[in-house]
Amino acid sequence: MAANESLPTSVLVVGSGGREHALVRALLASPARPRVICAPGNAGIAQDVACFPVAADAITGLVELAQRERIAFVVVGPEVPLSLGLVDALQKAGISAYGPKADGARLEASKIYTKEILLKYGIPTAPAAFFDSPAPAIAYVRSRPAPIVVKADGLAAGKGVVVAQTHAEAEAAIRQLLALSGPQPSTLNSQPPRILIEDCLAGDETSILVVVSGRDYVILPVSQDHKRIGDGDTGPNTGGMGAYSPAEIVTPDLLARIDREIVRPSVDAIASEGIDFRGTLFIGIMLCPPDSQPSTLNSQPGTATALPKVLEYNTRFGDPETQVVLPRLKTDLLDLLWRAAVGRLAGTKIDIRPEAALCVVVAAKGYPDRFPKGDIITFPPALPPGTTIFHAGTAKNAAGAIMTNGGRVLGVTALAPTLREAAARAYAACDAIQCVTKYCRRDIGARQLHRR
Ligand code: AMP
Ligand code: GLY
Repeated sequence: MAANESLPTSVLVVGSGGREHALVRALLASPARPRVICAPGNAGIAQDVACFPVAADAITGLVELAQRERIAFVVVGPEVPLSLGLVDALQKAGISAYGPKADGARLEASKIYTKEILLKYGIPTAPAAFFDSPAPAIAYVRSRPAPIVVKADGLAAGKGVVVAQTHAEAEAAIRQLLALSGPQPSTLNSQPPRILIEDCLAGDETSILVVVSGRDYVILPVSQDHKRIGDGDTGPNTGGMGAYSPAEIVTPDLLARIDREIVRPSVDAIASEGIDFRGTLFIGIMLCPPDSQPSTLNSQPGTATALPKVLEYNTRFGDPETQVVLPRLKTDLLDLLWRAAVGRLAGTKIDIRPEAALCVVVAAKGYPDRFPKGDIITFPPALPPGTTIFHAGTAKNAAGAIMTNGGRVLGVTALAPTLREAAARAYAACDAIQCVTKYCRRDIGARQLHRR
């Protein structure tokens, strides 16, 4: 698109997390100067654009909002509305949207469906078997070495995967996940629970976000997330406690290999299945050391000859990956997403800033289990240069003060010439934020900083 006049002038962002705050900021920075609104948003997004109290899974309400506000383009953040067919419904109403329709969103909503596609098209991934009752699942686990991974088939808000260190732990996970009714909307959960059991892969994880439009795609800057709650990657998995980009472990050669062996075959496989995918394909990849046995942990991962294997597909932007990927993008995000949505992505190149970005997630103490809400947050009057606070679980109280309203509360992101400087700035900003229930990991980026 040579001229901006062909870009939409009004955009609705759906969602309420740090990811959506980063999307809103990047869209507002477009030279096309679109009007941007958000539903439902959070206290930080509301400082930037108008927010409307329509829940992210209220499909009819969102279509009506888009119509009422004369929105030309909807950018969908989270997976649940995609799985519920928000993009299908918007298209029926004549409104363009970025994000897959329900058929494409199934690649995230069903891990068994994805594994079947990976195996059918020979895309590298861990061997796996599927079960809907405990006895054969337990017999299978006993025939495999521990550690072993047990996954619920459906969306489970990050709680559906157990990396079991022992057979006993795996058996407990099988019983628990087969009994799980899951927190997802009932329309997504009408099938009896199924599980997938797969070999445990050792190595470094990396997040590859790909903007896809049919068989065309653009790979965004590579990032790494920190999934565990505690320093040194300890404790339970979370939605993500911090991220950084670039991920130096993914050298240009390794990225070329990931493109050749995973991204291109994945995009082609999805198209061959008859899915017209227009949205973000987020490929979670394990970089397996070439000499590792499938079950070897604590190996030295991440050499240039690492074997990349698919852990999962998500069909949306990552959170907190988006908070470090978008600040590194010089390219107009509105133009990029619009091209993908309307099928004009072929030949598109993106411009990436050389600086490093690092995001520290500030959570409420207790997350990912029980955590309090309603604690007042005090922000410093000034931030270090290049630092942005993306809001996630925040809301305004009756007196107008900003308070905590979720497990992951803020994404404190810094862009700097080096990752070390980005970490120093992000942590200086985190330390200046006051909140009695503030918790953050202290080692975001440490793996890369200490690898040198
Ligand atoms: P998923 O939602 O399938 O990506 O799983 C969530 C997290 O569980 C991943 O980000 C990994 O940290 C871990 N995980 C999933 N599958 C495996 C596997 N086969 N081997 C080792 N870790 C895994
Ligand atoms: N940070 C991982 C995810 O968005 O699923």
